[in-house]
Amino acid sequence: MSIAQERKLAGEVPGPASRALEERRRRAVPRGVGTMTPVYAAAAHGAVIEDVDGNRFIDFTGGLGVLNAGHTPPSVVQAVKEQVERYLHTCQHALMNEPYVAVAEALNRITPGDYDKRTFLVNSGAEATENVVKIARAATGRQGVVVFDNAFHGRTLLALAMTGKVSPYKQGYQPFPSEVYRVPYAYCYRCPFHLTYPDCGIACADYVEEEIKVHVGPQNVACVIVEPVQGEGGFIAPPPGWLERIADMCRRLDIPFVADEVQSGFGRTGTLYATEQHPGVEPDFTLSAKSLAAGLPLAAVTGRAELMDAPGPGGLGGTFGGNPLACTAALATIELFEHGDLLDRAKRMGETLGRRLRDMGERHRVVGEVRGLGAMMALELVNDRATKEPAKEAASQVVAETARQGLLTLKAGIHDNVVRILAPLVMEEQLLEEGLDILDRALGVAG
Ligand SMILES: Cc1ncc(COP(=O)(O)O)c(C=O)c1O
Repeated sequence: MSIAQERKLAGEVPGPASRALEERRRRAVPRGVGTMTPVYAAAAHGAVIEDVDGNRFIDFTGGLGVLNAGHTPPSVVQAVKEQVERYLHTCQHALMNEPYVAVAEALNRITPGDYDKRTFLVNSGAEATENVVKIARAATGRQGVVVFDNAFHGRTLLALAMTGKVSPYKQGYQPFPSEVYRVPYAYCYRCPFHLTYPDCGIACADYVEEEIKVHVGPQNVACVIVEPVQGEGGFIAPPPGWLERIADMCRRLDIPFVADEVQSGFGRTGTLYATEQHPGVEPDFTLSAKSLAAGLPLAAVTGRAELMDAPGPGGLGGTFGGNPLACTAALATIELFEHGDLLDRAKRMGETLGRRLRDMGERHRVVGEVRGLGAMMALELVNDRATKEPAKEAASQVVAETARQGLLTLKAGIHDNVVRILAPLVMEEQLLEEGLDILDRALGVAG
């Protein structure tokens, strides 16, 4: 269903139909399932979501990074409809299907790294991060996993052990699997060493190497897992040279390097994968999920053939992994990225976001930092620019106020004080500017 690409407020937000659904939800769904805005979708297309009360919202949430190609892209919907008529499921362990193999071939071709690859399909980002650890352990015979501060790698128990933020993600779910070692990320706005780039000489990368050498032992490390731009951590884009240093360290210490591109991948940063913007960085594994299948659940571990083939037959899998509907959607989505203009749109969106957000940063004292890469941009909010005290309340106020005005936004950040933008890349410039006008007004209310 195609809906007009324009904002429309039919009444208050949330309206009566959303409020009634929220009441039903309270009785049926555990409160642990958090939702940023209490409105309920009726239809969505392109960059606009219509709710059950007839309000039409400009979407800066993109289904949490899943809808880079837009809501219901016609070619993806058509491909899924055709697949629905053929078969819904076979299960990779019972009998294979062609869409699974075609997605594996496509990802082997388009992920960073010019080497022989294999791809294994699962249902979610968390399953991808869990499985890459299994594969790296099988390939190296080592146990350790090195992860970073502020990281988010999912909510299942091993993925949660790799995730950095205690509350609300980890609190109460201990104990976690062992052999997970955490080191600092290049979070320059809150540099753990109180240094300033570039004078710091990227000392945090030296620290990571020293930690691995002294406290873990490279001979014990199965893999280092890095988000090229941290997502849930607050859209933290490391400074030029940092990812190169980490990748180089992995090469010298002979440790497999995993790029978790679950959120930064599929065009979000202006290239298909964010790693592509770091010359010479060639991950041994790349993880894809979110926007890979335009809304259908699909995730992938792609890696060097010799590493990926380490687990024996039957050692990898799952009932639903590589579901044919999701694979068909992924093939149509990949086609859109390879032969459409989504990457150009991501670059243009990134330019507009950079210009408008920097301007907001100059005018609103609540904005501590404007940052990101390409169309993966965010504002970190602070109560005081000198102390950088995180403005968690202000971030919640911005999300609530933008929703009242017809724009859906999301928070992020280790301190819950970041407003991030994950707008579908198909959003027309005029709608993007209108959404940014609303964000600007909401910052005025919150600040
Ligand atoms: C970088 C990264 N890795 C892993 C995950 C987990 O993905 P999922 O929620 O599909 O399990 C996420 C989710 O936000 C993510 O951003």
